[in-house]
Amino acid sequence: MRQLAVVVLAAGEGTRMKSSLPKVLHEIAGLPLIGHVLATAHSLSAEHVIAVLRHEKEKISQYVAQHFPSTVIATQDEVPGTGRAVEAALSMLPASYDGDVLVLSGDVPLIDVSSITELIERHRTSKSIGTLVTCQMENPFGYGRIVRSRGELVGIVEQKDATEDQRAISEVNAGVYVFEFAQLKVALAKVTTQNASKEKYLTDVISLMIEKGLVQAHQISDHWLVAGVNDRAQLSEVARELNSRIVRAWQLAGVSIDEPSSTWIDVTVQIGQDAKILPSTRLLGITSIGVGAVIGPDSTLTDCEVGSSAVVTRTVAENVKIASDTKVGPFSYLRPGTELAEGGKIGAFVETKNAKIGAGAKVPHLSYVGDAEIGEGSNIGAGTIFANYDGENKHQTKIGKHVKTGSGNVFVAPVSIGDGAYTAAGSTIRKDVEPGALARNPMPQENLADWVLEKRPGSESAKAAKRTE
Ligand code: UD1
Ligand code: MG
Repeated sequence: MRQLAVVVLAAGEGTRMKSSLPKVLHEIAGLPLIGHVLATAHSLSAEHVIAVLRHEKEKISQYVAQHFPSTVIATQDEVPGTGRAVEAALSMLPASYDGDVLVLSGDVPLIDVSSITELIERHRTSKSIGTLVTCQMENPFGYGRIVRSRGELVGIVEQKDATEDQRAISEVNAGVYVFEFAQLKVALAKVTTQNASKEKYLTDVISLMIEKGLVQAHQISDHWLVAGVNDRAQLSEVARELNSRIVRAWQLAGVSIDEPSSTWIDVTVQIGQDAKILPSTRLLGITSIGVGAVIGPDSTLTDCEVGSSAVVTRTVAENVKIASDTKVGPFSYLRPGTELAEGGKIGAFVETKNAKIGAGAKVPHLSYVGDAEIGEGSNIGAGTIFANYDGENKHQTKIGKHVKTGSGNVFVAPVSIGDGAYTAAGSTIRKDVEPGALARNPMPQENLADWVLEKRPGSESAKAAKRTE
């Protein structure tokens, strides 16, 4: 088997993005563009994977080193152009290298392993010295055009350098190529920067190599696989297409998705069979959804683990564990560190943070639960606040098992409530409560007779009161 080196081009400025974030770090489906390309590159069992960087090298190489540590980083010098970028990559290969070089673009994220495998297969069986992926595009603007004479490949001409006739060509260069290493090196050395962009174009090697051996265009029909991202409009188009493919794959795997167009699922998400994803739901990051769970509508879950048969309605949650057979929402806001155990409930208008809520425990209505542990089977009354912040530090509240707290309580942390205790409605709990006790701190109620009639004479309230006399 011949050796393979994969080169990922990502040194360009990406000026058309008009962004302080480097182009290849813009994300679709939860990964930066270059993350999609590197994931593909690393699944080809190549001997070398080389990313070429220059613009914003620090930021990009940090991402690459963290997520694809076996990638070699090559640095392009001040000579611009994709040809120069490939030269930088080739200089990283051992002098003895004798194999093929696959070139991928960091801004062509949807190219997949099976198309590349076919490309390499065709290149090798036909003993070509260069094979490039091409595609018919309805709107070829911006791409390099494939120039043919009597059907035979002649070369590639860039948009900026093309004549009007050439601009009418709809077959474009995908920016994905495989070359025989030695031939590529020789051809690149001959490429100049004499063109509209004053760049050393990789595309110029095609016409040079045709004189040396067989160079073929490998046309593929799925134009999305070769879509390049150069501006934010293309970024959102490619993101939508990738998303619709992800959604469809989950549907075919047994997940119900009512409205694909408003459902967004990152490539890093896992979903169990018979789960139902309702409209306007976004499942992001490292999120997993259990078998038969119902998520949405209008929910955004980031880095969440949701158990089987859980029901999560109109909820925003991040870094949260929701166990099986639980209910969350509608209108719940679950912040990092929330863990809801089996059979538990977090209800309407409840915000939680760093809160471990035990099996079967419930926080049903209008509450804030921060820095708390609530034991199994306990119930928190409506409108309860866990006052965790003293202005400088955060403190913990511990509620035992099978505790029933009244409505409108304030737990002033640090404080703990023993197993089986009760608290009365409207209590402010500042002192620990022993197991089985009832805690209350009643404010004596005073009724000032006729106060409204005297202080608000003539008001609707006063009139209403008068009518009862
Ligand atoms: C390039 C191709 C074009 C093809 C299109 C497919 C050339 C000259 N043109 O055009 O034929 O149709 O891709 O999407 O190759 N890069 C470097 N160093 C540089 C310049 C670019 O590494 O000096 C990298 C970029 O970061 C990017 C990739 O190469 O990932 C392509 O560069 P880009 O400027 O987007 O080229 P296109 O105009 O899209
Ligand atoms: Mg491009």
